[in-house]
Amino acid sequence: MKTGDGRQHTLPPVCQTLLIPLVARARGGEAFPALACHDAAAEQLLDQLDLDLRPYLKDRITTQNILWRTRVIQSAGRAFFQAHPDSQGVNLGCGLSQHFQWLDQGCNRWLDSDLPEVMALRDTCLAADVPRQHHAEVDLRTPGWWQRLGLPSGTHDKPVFVLCEGVLMYLTPEQVEAVLAEFAEQAPPGSQMVLDTMSRVGRGMARAHPTVGPTGVQFLWCPASADELTRPHPRLRLLQTRSVSECYGWLGTVTEACWMPVTGTPMYAMVTLSV
Ligand SMILES: C[S@@+](CC[C@H](N)C(=O)[O-])C[C@H]1O[C@@H](n2cnc3c(N)ncnc32)[C@H](O)[C@@H]1O
Repeated sequence: MKTGDGRQHTLPPVCQTLLIPLVARARGGEAFPALACHDAAAEQLLDQLDLDLRPYLKDRITTQNILWRTRVIQSAGRAFFQAHPDSQGVNLGCGLSQHFQWLDQGCNRWLDSDLPEVMALRDTCLAADVPRQHHAEVDLRTPGWWQRLGLPSGTHDKPVFVLCEGVLMYLTPEQVEAVLAEFAEQAPPGSQMVLDTMSRVGRGMARAHPTVGPTGVQFLWCPASADELTRPHPRLRLLQTRSVSECYGWLGTVTEACWMPVTGTPMYAMVTLSV
């Protein structure tokens, strides 16, 4: 991929998936005006990147899912920071997203983190909006990431808002269990983690996905039940689950009710965990 400065960036396959939500947030609103998120940062980035957008925009289901999840994240994040105005947020596996444009409440802090290759790319094309926004490299597969990111962990510290969207399905179930356990072990009371889940029907099916398939990565973690989200640690609580079926009205609700015995969890959902 070529950036505005003419430099060519080669990203590992799992990192290439960051283009899918970037394009959806920048341009998906044209196909789904009711869900448009008006992501100014993503639009500017696409102007700089030399990218064929057609395959991404043709993947309408994924585009809709991402625009819907952006809304869910915005409402969860705003509610959290209204309750805890001077607390810390962190985006794990941030890609080229810029959620702080929507979640900056004036005195909260925000940390964007991803694998080194992504953070190097991010450095060339995405500046922090305000001094309260920082960035750091992270590999969620290596335990100890909470401390390495310098996130608060005392019982009297302010709660932390953790976002991890479009990331955990690319880790193994054991790695995800360790990520959830580390959040539960380290996060101050009242902290929340917002993440997305795919039903077990999706496991191993990435090749059939129109935009993930070409990257060559696989869907590895697709929980079979909601219990899998809280089982990693006794402090974990399931605060909220929202299914993408809400985009499809009553037809979506009925279809999901019929399929849930097979799928175990919604086909695609946004989950909020708390400690
Ligand atoms: C589909 S993209 C999502 C990016 C971003 N969350 C968004 O929604 O725009 C998946 C992201 O997960 C990151 N990722 C994958 N494995 C990771 C790991 N072990 N540690 C940290 N980030 C990881 C990738 O580099 C990539 O940026």
